[in-house]
Amino acid sequence: MDKIIIHGGKRLSGTIPVSGAKNSALTLIPCALLTDEPLTLRNLPRLADIDGFQHLMNQFGVSTSIAGSRPEDFGRVMTFEATRITSSVAPYELVRKMRASILVLGPMLARMGEATVSLPGGCAIGNRPIDLHLKVLEAMGAQIEMAAGYVRAIAPDGGLPGGEFDFPVISVGATENALMAAATASGTVRLRNAAREPEIVDLCNLLVAMGAEIEGIGQSDLTIHGVKRLHGATYRVMPDRIEAGSYACAAAITGGEVTLAGARPEEMSATSHALRNAGVQVEAVKGGLHVAANGALKAVNLSTAPYPGFATDMQAQLMALLCRAEGTSVLTETIFENRYMHVPELNRMGAQIETSGRTAIVHGVAGMHGAEVMATDLRASMSLVIAGLAATGETQVHRLYHLDRGYERLEEKLALLGADVERVGGD
Ligand code: UD1
Repeated sequence: MDKIIIHGGKRLSGTIPVSGAKNSALTLIPCALLTDEPLTLRNLPRLADIDGFQHLMNQFGVSTSIAGSRPEDFGRVMTFEATRITSSVAPYELVRKMRASILVLGPMLARMGEATVSLPGGCAIGNRPIDLHLKVLEAMGAQIEMAAGYVRAIAPDGGLPGGEFDFPVISVGATENALMAAATASGTVRLRNAAREPEIVDLCNLLVAMGAEIEGIGQSDLTIHGVKRLHGATYRVMPDRIEAGSYACAAAITGGEVTLAGARPEEMSATSHALRNAGVQVEAVKGGLHVAANGALKAVNLSTAPYPGFATDMQAQLMALLCRAEGTSVLTETIFENRYMHVPELNRMGAQIETSGRTAIVHGVAGMHGAEVMATDLRASMSLVIAGLAATGETQVHRLYHLDRGYERLEEKLALLGADVERVGGD
């Protein structure tokens, strides 16, 4: 298994491109199931999760092709063509590896009138139930059956009639499934307290480009007037705000200065706000975001929250930065119950963090030292890389496959900024 070796202490500086957003790509790709015409997605990040999703689409009989991009390019263009769907079943061995597979439930149901998806099972960052995905589809007229670890959704003849649903908890994935299923409903669907993350806006924009009728894009109340059919489209995946935020933390912890080309500052205001509170300069510049840190870092108190609040997907990376701040920071994780797995590893590098339930208290330390560390999820792994960049000596981050799920060519981007990093095969 590959690992990344970091010799800390190099100040990061320069410009790197922000890749296409993983979480957006994972909901745009299943939209290909909604039409028999080609869907071309540009700026798809080269990530293990995207390859996994492509594999899942092939399983349904969807053909995929990659347009001639050069190996040195970031991102690529892929066309998905679901002329004929040969299977409506997402099997356990694929869903188990990639929880986002649940996002085929809505579009498959809309296209085929039925869909069978394996239950995703537990997940390292909490239980992550799918009850809301099922409840919202039921409210739109689907019949849901559970058997032998699989969920089967069936639409009445003539398609989903439509309906209303008020989300008791904001869910990104359930909102995405609902939007995809609603696009071709025979009636109207009204969603209240829906997620409004930029990735949801990206999904809505693609659906509209395919012929869908959606009111309230970017708001918590969405109304979808079902249309008879959707057509193909060519669409560019939005930039990854979490990747950009991660590199902003990496730059800041080294006292560096980095321009994130392609980042959209307007979608990153909670992260920018937190960084500014930590004493980091964050500035919107033409075509991106500029981040510079040249003074002492300051402690910050914050809670994660659905968008436009501070993203749970940025919590671990910000925590790594706050390990080196003056004073004590208090972070509260409100979205997932088990998202502090990076804490013991950061502590092994000299951090002083205590957790109690959903709260983490980070006592800033003047310095951290390299160590062999590993994490069990994507963002937790990135927090260890960030800490390693400013630690003395050598840090080895094991289980690199977590990072490969979500950071396109991580070590190349870090090297472009002057970090001393190396990927090696091993254990
Ligand atoms: C998505 C993102 C993930 C991010 C998360 C929150 C993708 C592929 N993943 O995950 O990176 O951390 O949003 O921003 O886009 N919940 C239920 N029942 C459900 C669904 C969710 O109770 O049916 C709960 C979850 O346990 C969690 C909360 O709702 O506490 C939010 O989860 P959700 O927004 O659905 O996260 P995902 O879509 O899985």
